[in-house]
Amino acid sequence: MPFIADRLLAIKPSPTIFISNKALALKAEGRDIIGLAAGEPDFDTPQNIKDAAKRAIDRGDTKYTQVDGTPELKKAVCGKFKRENELTYAPNQISVGTGGKQVLFNALLATVNRGDEVIVPAPYWVSYPDIVVLCEGTPVAVTCPQNNGFKLRPEDLEAAITRKTKWLILNSPSNPTGAAYTRAELAALAEVLVRHPDVWVLADDMYEHLVYDDFVFTSIAQVEPKLYPRTLTLNGVSKAYCMTGWRIGYAGGPTELIKAMAGLQSQSTTNPSSISQAAAVEALNGPQDFIPVNNAVFKERRDLVVAGLNRCKGLHCPTPHGAFYVYPSCAGTIGRRTPDGKMIETDTDFVTYLLDAEGVAVVPGTAFGLAPHFRVSYAASNAELREACNRIERACAKLE
Ligand SMILES: Cc1ncc(COP(=O)(O)O)c(C=O)c1O
Repeated sequence: MPFIADRLLAIKPSPTIFISNKALALKAEGRDIIGLAAGEPDFDTPQNIKDAAKRAIDRGDTKYTQVDGTPELKKAVCGKFKRENELTYAPNQISVGTGGKQVLFNALLATVNRGDEVIVPAPYWVSYPDIVVLCEGTPVAVTCPQNNGFKLRPEDLEAAITRKTKWLILNSPSNPTGAAYTRAELAALAEVLVRHPDVWVLADDMYEHLVYDDFVFTSIAQVEPKLYPRTLTLNGVSKAYCMTGWRIGYAGGPTELIKAMAGLQSQSTTNPSSISQAAAVEALNGPQDFIPVNNAVFKERRDLVVAGLNRCKGLHCPTPHGAFYVYPSCAGTIGRRTPDGKMIETDTDFVTYLLDAEGVAVVPGTAFGLAPHFRVSYAASNAELREACNRIERACAKLE
């Protein structure tokens, strides 16, 4: 009998981490590698946030806290939701965890029974389907191709809903495509959801602040108040505040769900780091002026990468409005041969060729449920991005 539990057999290790590790191993061998696979900003955490953490240590905020967040942080989160999303949550409607990932995990483990379906628009963030599977639920991937802007259409949502549907996970702006839903698009999806009162919505707004071209971010419970009693609005400080390593995520939702999530967290990790929580209070309440400054840099990088990739033979790259990813199609490279005679049959073959031949690490679209594409993270310097695009262009030109 295998020692490892059956539930682990159904999930795969994160493919983004796999590629990053392969790139790191090649780097350690002395290869010149440009890593564009990571899902985190390359900017440092702002100084005022670091200082708040140092003060927390000096003050002795080094003990256990309330399981799902300190009163100070919950208050700051309520303020954020009110100020930025027109959503009114009381502190007992807030859950804080060790990263948005834990909050998502808690929400699904607290609610999904065996066989319950969770609708996951594809391409999706790699963790959604695997977390659903760990909870013994069934992820229902709904394909959202490039000609739909990689977005879920109301008619596809309607068709995917069954009696077993428990949740729709809606991520905007999206990892891996950068696609962001307009208020009108959310309203059209909400119209469908209003007709299906048993379906809950998990709005993953993790990339809320990373939007460009004057795009106005909206969250679905803000657009349709009728959905508020069955929406969990998920967010965190990882991406906009450049705090991926601090591990603070949070959500607002109905008290019954929040209470269940706290019960679960009390038997797993207890509270998130007291020091990180103090830092997150400063992130949410402190100056926000570095966000547009960072966004201007991200936008310039996005434009550079989109233009660079569209110069490559066999690639096509749309321009997204959010996050720090682009999701080009590599359909035009499929069926062609590399200089050493290997046939490119899948996006994984193409990505492997890029890494082996030119030392550029990106993630194959297969990992995100929509192929043949690949994800490029442009959270890297302009010089690195320019060089990466040149290398990809050279690699594509060599395909026969
Ligand atoms: C779409 C999306 N949601 C949630 C998360 C979780 O972020 P964290 O656990 O760092 O807060 C990520 C991280 O990559 C993400 O891409």
